[in-house]
Amino acid sequence: MTVATEPKYDLQSKIDEIVGEYGAKPTALIMILQDVQKHYRYLPEDALRAVAKSMKLPLAQIYGVATFYRTFTLKPIGKNHICVCTGTACHVRQAVVIVDKLERDLGIRAGETTANGEVSLETVNCLGACALGPLVTANGIYYGNMTVNKVEKMMSDVLHKKRVSETTEEAA
Ligand code: FES
Repeated sequence: MTVATEPKYDLQSKIDEIVGEYGAKPTALIMILQDVQKHYRYLPEDALRAVAKSMKLPLAQIYGVATFYRTFTLKPIGKNHICVCTGTACHVRQAVVIVDKLERDLGIRAGETTANGEVSLETVNCLGACALGPLVTANGIYYGNMTVNKVEKMMSDVLHKKRVSETTEEAA
């Protein structure tokens, strides 16, 4: 559900629920924002205001964390999120070729979302598992030692899971 379709009262209730799971401690802010992003697929401004209210923290502090970490996005992202590491260890193992392949196949540039909202592609400087490089994450799942040939299988897995969940929703 996107924030645009969620009434403000429900939004605050949802945020209160997430904050309640961790407690309104500043040290829990990153985990709270991760859950908020998981729910909305990005960090909408209204949700950040609701987090500030629920945690009784200044909005500037919430924005400070939300904009500091690359894992957070303030823009809507696709239903499927592909992230290619282009940090040094992955770069020397041809990560740029993986990015080129995904950009060509998806018809978008890194940092963009496909017109149908299905896939967002981004690059990051390090995913913290350099030994697995070149490394790509698809919806949070790590695909290590990535090659151009493996990209199509990965995307097939990603979109197949999507089709399975759509079938399940249609059957419900
Ligand atoms: S440089 Fe790619 S995971 Fe560290």
